[in-house]
Amino acid sequence: MCGIVAYVGPRDAQPILLDALSRLEYRGYDSAGLAILNGKGVEVRKKSGRIQELASACQQKPVQGQIGISHTRWATHGGATDINAHPHLDASGRLALVHNGVVENYLELRARLVGHGHKFVSETDTEVLAHLVGDAFAASKTKGEEKLVEAVRSAMKQVQGTLGIAVIHSDLPGLVVGARRGSPLVIGIGHGENFLASDTQALAPYTNRVVILKDQEVVALKAERYDIASPLGIRSDIQIEEIENGVATSDKGPYPHYMLKEIYEQTSSIQNAFRGRLNPHEATAKLGGLNLSSHELRKIERISILGCGTALHAGMVGKYLIETLAKIPVETHYASEFRYGDSPTSPNTLFFAVSQSGETADTLGALREAQRRGFPCLGICNHVSSTIARESNGGVYMHSGPEIGVAATKSFTSQVMIFTLLGLLLGRLRSLSASHGQEILQAIESLPQKITQVLDRSDETKKVAQKYAEAKSMLFLGRLANFPIALEGALKMKEVTYIHAEGYPSAELKHGVIALIDKETPTVLIAPRDGVYDKNLGSLQEIKARGGRVIAVAHETDAKIRDLADAVLPVPETHPLLQPLLNVIPLQLLSYHSAVALGRDVDKPRNLAKSVTVE
Ligand code: M6R
Repeated sequence: MCGIVAYVGPRDAQPILLDALSRLEYRGYDSAGLAILNGKGVEVRKKSGRIQELASACQQKPVQGQIGISHTRWATHGGATDINAHPHLDASGRLALVHNGVVENYLELRARLVGHGHKFVSETDTEVLAHLVGDAFAASKTKGEEKLVEAVRSAMKQVQGTLGIAVIHSDLPGLVVGARRGSPLVIGIGHGENFLASDTQALAPYTNRVVILKDQEVVALKAERYDIASPLGIRSDIQIEEIENGVATSDKGPYPHYMLKEIYEQTSSIQNAFRGRLNPHEATAKLGGLNLSSHELRKIERISILGCGTALHAGMVGKYLIETLAKIPVETHYASEFRYGDSPTSPNTLFFAVSQSGETADTLGALREAQRRGFPCLGICNHVSSTIARESNGGVYMHSGPEIGVAATKSFTSQVMIFTLLGLLLGRLRSLSASHGQEILQAIESLPQKITQVLDRSDETKKVAQKYAEAKSMLFLGRLANFPIALEGALKMKEVTYIHAEGYPSAELKHGVIALIDKETPTVLIAPRDGVYDKNLGSLQEIKARGGRVIAVAHETDAKIRDLADAVLPVPETHPLLQPLLNVIPLQLLSYHSAVALGRDVDKPRNLAKSVTVE
């Protein structure tokens, strides 16, 4: 997590750093800071809270200078305080450093430095890194800019863990040194000015020409040039990439929150996910980016899906879709568990790494592990120039547009749509009939209009939310492909309202969960008229018999559920395989309206970040 921006050039650094940093706030938003070389030394401003707090501090007391580094933080070591905010200084106070990552051996390094007389003011692992670089700089006999590069390399050798860093030193007023190991860092190339940032989004208004730093590389960045070196030597084959300048819009339009805007955007984002990918003549889907021939796709015997949070829930719906349509066994893995576990892999397995941001550290680690084991791993990402998109062997882009609200909404439905297309494609290469394929295609095409129908009933959901928002705990139940929807509904509820919520397969109720049922603990039951409808009705009766209250997600024409449940979130009927895509939307709205009723910070819930770039 955490976002880094650095600038070197002829312009005032402060406004550029603050502006670029605001586009990285999705990476963490508990504190922010900047350090600028002001001609006399390093001048630092840092504040706990949002970047706006830092901007106000800088407005009251501006920092003048044309070279600087900045940071927005998601706390790992030490609370979200002014002191723990980055940048951190070395012992001399002449070197400032910002860091994205985790120094795993920081306690040991800190103890050693304290033994040598170092004093630390923060609780962070990063301050240790600043002192290490500072010590190496002071001890070095090297002259000029290479001295800071060498000092960074020396510190990197001592540090275990991940890092993306930017460093300035008041002895070297035209230089920023950046380095990466694990955490992403890109160089933005301007005219007579250069930038460094955690990702390209930060740089969108300034340049579209970037160089992606590779692992273990260190860059010496000046206004007119940049030199990149790894421990193996200078990089001479530098490829400048031209990125699409998709500046994430900060315009919420008529919506009070990004989350609501993004929920409403699902009518079009789902279309973007399937546009140009339907092949009605062959009753199938076409996905050009897979980089696999029909022959290779037919040889796949297993699929493994890797992801975290909402992306994993989409993968769980994907499992159901692919197993039903293509009859290929699919397993889903928490990316964090897969990367460190011993779970066996079978030959002819195709992996998918699912990630909206394409930067989630655990998903990236799992992708690399799958590739290390010799398997192809395809990405399902939204961010086109993201690390997962670049490192995967091919994939499918979601084309959802920027998702700014921390709670993932439209990315979920786009991911599920892509799994629908994959299921259709793989199914038609096997035994799925053309008529069944056509049914799926027709259902896909009618989805946007059905999503609109769900959204049009947002006010009904709002009333339900207002009635139940005082609950301390909630249960979400669903069966088969609606079980992951229950998990997703519970995750959304926890994330934006802070109400404790659990998702379970409905039948698990009687294996322990039922002990939680009372009139204070509402249950959201996803019960469309499908093959397990009667079973779900049984669960509903069991809950009611114990005094529990039930909010049912059910077909709008279902009078029986309307009689039995305490509240209904109605959805239109669609093909049963696509029904989860509609069922999730009232749950997104339910958590959104509940969060608003409780006065929560909907778009930036406490303790979270949009993109989890640390383990
Ligand atoms: O960017 P990713 O899709 O890889 O993110 C994965 C999760 O961190 C993310 O889905 C998270 O669970 C959301 N905040 C949930 O709303």
